[in-house]
Amino acid sequence: MTTQEQAAWYRQKIEEALEQALPAPREGDLSGKVREAMRYSLLSGGKRIRPILALAFCEACGGEALSALPFACAVEMIHTYSLIHDDMPCMDDDDLRRGRPTNHKIYGEAMALLAGDGLLTLAFQQGLSFQGDPAAARDGARLLAEYAGAQGMVGGQCIDLEQEGKEVTLEILAQMDRGKTVALIAAACAMGCTAAGAGEKELQAARQFAFGLGMAFQLRDDVLDVLGDAAKLGKNTGMDSARDKRNYVSLLGVEEAQRLVEQYTKEALDALEAFPGDTTFLREFALSLVERES
Ligand code: IPE
Ligand code: IPE
Ligand code: MG
Ligand code: MG
Ligand code: MG
Repeated sequence: MTTQEQAAWYRQKIEEALEQALPAPREGDLSGKVREAMRYSLLSGGKRIRPILALAFCEACGGEALSALPFACAVEMIHTYSLIHDDMPCMDDDDLRRGRPTNHKIYGEAMALLAGDGLLTLAFQQGLSFQGDPAAARDGARLLAEYAGAQGMVGGQCIDLEQEGKEVTLEILAQMDRGKTVALIAAACAMGCTAAGAGEKELQAARQFAFGLGMAFQLRDDVLDVLGDAAKLGKNTGMDSARDKRNYVSLLGVEEAQRLVEQYTKEALDALEAFPGDTTFLREFALSLVERES
């Protein structure tokens, strides 16, 4: 299988599992609206980078990729909730996401808030439904809580909002991106290892990989905010400067930011040396993100 075929296969399994985890509400269900709003954002064609990483790391550690599906779905649910809230008027105030109007544009702010809350909670229900070793289910849920919370993604989003309109240093930017983007990517990679029963050495290497890939991913996101095409991205461009948000591009320029995308990706690839299994997929997948356009 080529890397693209492998990614497409993972993606198909992820789509099926997500649909199964969040079926459409029955007619007459009085709380159906919030489920509809959750489904609107969750089943709307994201790239599924994080769940793919969870499955691929499980496999790289010698596990059966599909056994990690509950963890993969859990991370994607947290990620989707973070996007719904990130787009709300009180945060980035965006009206286009994944090629469609943002959640609050369709369902209103209160329902978008609840859809995020619902996905956050469903993520833990999913993660804890992991069928293997109960200790791995517990460890996976704990990792997710650590990376998604105030020390991870939520913390990064806090720094992002706090820095709007201010001059920032590279150190602050690194701390912000480590939270808002690296954390959930690290959760995905680490949870994949946990599903396979991997040891501390693999976990440590997965974290190192996630740091490189996550930094590269957010840097490329910042580059695409300037150079990207909204039709390909499925979200509007020029939003960071419009909201007076500082990022690597505003500080260093597009060229240097893209150079850092390459440098961080290389750091990620170096971390793969620690894995005894076949890491060809992870290597090529990481490289495919360097020049991504969506
Ligand atoms: C967008 O994430 C938010 C960032 C952390 C840059 P993705 O680019 O993975 O978004 P989707 O899931 O494909 O929509
Ligand atoms: C979002 O970062 C990160 C999270 C949602 C946690 P951005 O605000 O840069 O993401 P986009 O550009 O809106 O996708
Ligand atoms: Mg944001
Ligand atoms: Mg945003
Ligand atoms: Mg962005």
